[in-house]
Parts: sequence; C-alpha cells; structure tokens
Amino acid sequence: MNETVLEKARRYEAENGKKIPKESRPVFHLNPYVGWMNDPNGFSWYDGKYHMFYQYHPYSSQWGPMHWGHAVSEDLLHWHHCPAALAPDQPYDEAGCFSGTAITMPDGKQLLVYTGVHKEEKEDGTTIDIQKQCVAIGDGLNYEKYENNPVLTVADLPKGGRKEDFRDPKVFRGKNGTYYMIAVNRDETEGGQVLLFQSQDALHWNYVSKVAENHNRLGLMWECPDLFSMEDKDVLVLSAQEMLPEGLEFHNGFGTFALIGSYNEKTGQFKEETIQSLDYGLDFYAPQSILTPDGRRVMIGWMQNWDTVAPPQMNTRWAGQMSLPRELTMKNGKIYQNPVREILAYRCESPVCEERIICDEEIEIQGINGRVVDMTVDVEAENLSDIYHRFAIQFAKNDRFYTSISFRPTESVLRIDRKFSGSRRGIIHQRRSRVEHENGKIRLRLIIDRYSVEIFVNDGEQVLSAVMQTELSADRITFVASGAVKMKVCHYHLKEE
Ligand code: FRU
Repeated sequence: MNETVLEKARRYEAENGKKIPKESRPVFHLNPYVGWMNDPNGFSWYDGKYHMFYQYHPYSSQWGPMHWGHAVSEDLLHWHHCPAALAPDQPYDEAGCFSGTAITMPDGKQLLVYTGVHKEEKEDGTTIDIQKQCVAIGDGLNYEKYENNPVLTVADLPKGGRKEDFRDPKVFRGKNGTYYMIAVNRDETEGGQVLLFQSQDALHWNYVSKVAENHNRLGLMWECPDLFSMEDKDVLVLSAQEMLPEGLEFHNGFGTFALIGSYNEKTGQFKEETIQSLDYGLDFYAPQSILTPDGRRVMIGWMQNWDTVAPPQMNTRWAGQMSLPRELTMKNGKIYQNPVREILAYRCESPVCEERIICDEEIEIQGINGRVVDMTVDVEAENLSDIYHRFAIQFAKNDRFYTSISFRPTESVLRIDRKFSGSRRGIIHQRRSRVEHENGKIRLRLIIDRYSVEIFVNDGEQVLSAVMQTELSADRITFVASGAVKMKVCHYHLKEE
C-alpha cells in the first residue's frame, strides 16, 4: 500500500529526529523534532497533559508545506515529541495546514480547528492561496479530518473579505455552550480584521460580526488572534504584519501586541482602551494562551519573527523554537509576564548571590557564568546626585562573542544587542525599549537556555526575547558600568538533564 503524506512525515521524523544530539537543542524551549517550526498551534490541556502543536515542515530547516508537529508536557518545560498530527493531504489543504486551535469536546475527543490552504489558478496563469477553516477529530495522538471539511469557506466572509487571507481560527466555548471562533481576514483596504463565527456543534458555523478592524493603523494584515479575560478587562492579542514604528514601539515589522478593553458577547465587538506591546526584543510572534488547570493564564509564542528569519547558519537540522511559557497577570490595567513558576524546580541548589558596587569597570564574579541560567540583577545609582550613565550585562561571552542588555537611565532606554553573538547574517540585531525608573533602579531577570535569552524587566512589566546562534563554549557573564552602580545579583544554573 502507498504511504500517506502523514505516514511519510511520521517515518521521516522518527528516522531523522533521533539523529539530532540532545546537546544541540535548548533544554526548556520546545523545538521541532526535526526540520522547521513556526507558530504554536492548539496549545491545550488534554487528557492530563499539556499539548502543543506547531507549524512544522519536517523535511528541511526552511518553511514549506505546513504540517502540524505535536509535543506533550507535564510541566510546560520538558516536552516529549509525538508523531506529526496533521499533514497537507487533502485537496482543500494540499498547500498547507496553517495555524489553529485545539478544544476538548463533550464526548472527550479533541477537536483541532485549522486553516486549510489550496492553490487556485487565476486567468493569467498565476496562482493564489485560498484559505478556509477545517477540523480534525482525535484522541491526543491520531486525528482524522472531518469528511465535510472545510467548515468555513470564503463564501462565509463578509463583503470585501479577501479569500487569500482568512486564517488562524481561535475557538472557545461560551458559558451558554455555544462555540465561538475568531479568525483573521484581510479587508479590501489591505488591513486586518478579526471576524466572529458561532456554532452549536463546532462543525456547522455561521458568521456573526467583526470583532475588531485595523484600518491600517497597527500594521497591515493581522495574524493569530487570541481573546481572554483578565481581572475586569478583556484582552485581544494579535500579531501584525508590516508594522510602522512609532517612537520606540513596534520596531519589529512583524510584532505582537495586546488590545486591552472590553468584549461585548452580545454584539461580538471589542472596544479597545489601551494597547500594549508584548515583547520588545527581536524574536516573539504569534502566541497562544491557555488557562491551566490551576487557573493561570499562560502564553507561549514562536521565538522568532518573519523579519528575523534568515537562512540558518547553525548546522543543526532543526530551526525555530518556542518562547518560555509566560504567566500573565494584570496590574493597573497592564499585562505583566513572568516565566512559569515551574522553572523554579530546575534551579540548582546553590545560587551565587552577591552585592557589589561597580564603578567605571567591567567585572566578572566567580561562579556566575553558563548557558542555562536563571539570574536576577537589581541595580540602582550608588550616588543619587550623580546617577550612573550606563549599566550592561554581557553574556554568552568569550573573547570574540557576546550578547548584551544595557540600560541608560538618563535616556530611560534599555537595549538588547546581539550584534556580536556570532551571527553571520546582516539582519537587525538590536532593539530598544523605554523603561521608566527612579534613580536608575531596574530589575532584570535573564533566562538563558543555550540558544536564547529572555529578559523580564521589573517583575514582568516588559519582556525582551532574542535567539542567539553563539557557540556554547561562550559562557562567560560580565557586568559593566560607566558611573557608579549598586548591584545585587542572584544567579542559578538551571538543571540540564
Ligand atoms: C503567522 C502565520 C499564520 C499562518 C502561519 C503559516 O506566523 O503567517 O498567519 O497560519 O504562519 O505557517
């Protein structure tokens, strides 16, 4: 019998994934068993485990016809790879199974809702992608595509909606038992819009309303919507293509932000009050979130974005990784993001904690080094009448390479810079963000996991994420000050097994 497209992918990954040495992968960040990964998909709690699916092209370390990769975890940090869940094997999804959601059905089955893409030939002989929503039903390991797919097509779009950009369904169940789907679409002005659909059985859907419209204000097309409540607010998370920078905001081209406001279930409309960027580093896009069984809102994004994807230079046979899972909380109408508390269990027993005054020098502290690290640094001005000019931490460092995070209190600017991280690609390697402070006081928590760093600023007020292609032997950490800085550091190695 001929092998199916899914069987071929499963065989390929089983044969090739095991050849990739464990040491060449991050410890806590989900990465593809083999090949390419982008967006998280179907992030869920099902059958006693966390499930993460992802945009996946097993056959190369470049984007290609999208499959859904699959992994499970008990603590959100150590992931076990499962066989690929979906492959582009039907006429309606032969060009790819794009991003979507997973939801548990009343009969205990898991429903995957995804975007099927196929190519349509135009009169001039060129082709365009046609996008529509499809479902597959399974048991946490194997999934069968629904015989009546697709469940939503371009015919269901409101007037002016483009058929080549209709994707990324996020499905949730209302208190009244109705299933709701929000999906993104491009309107006739090139701008993104979020559309709402509803269904009684998650199989038969109809259009309800426009939840939000971009009007070309925040980028052009929007991707990967997420909608949830926190405290007394509702939050609509979106990732936008082609954003224009405003001050120190939205520098990534492809960036992720939260609209914070209120969602009216009756009208299906979102009223925005404030907007907040979710990452000020280089690499974060298309996140999904879940409510954990113990009631935490946890979000994971793709730790990359379409403008920082350059041809891979590391010869690893895997490309792409997820961000650390972040616990979201809301304080005074602002979202705070911190690493999931599960990471505390992986801190080694003996931290190095020290207080130092550093003045116009670069110092190294014995025992503070490594590439799998959880380190918190508090700094403030040693002399209030003469606030320091600059403080920096350099890490993943050897004689040739380093990545740094630096703060200039007189400008209130924090900067991440991986120019010297060993990248041979001429892409942007630096980002800045504005951090308000008193007397140069700032708290930086760095989580380094071999090939990435995530910096949580002032207990999660901001995050800056960046992948690094630096060789693992570059494991020094130094602290640099111009002016006089009072510094308190607490450094843990994280267990690598
Ligand atoms: C976002 C995205 C989605 C799409 C997927 C394709 O990164 O462009 O909109 O579903 O990636 O891989």
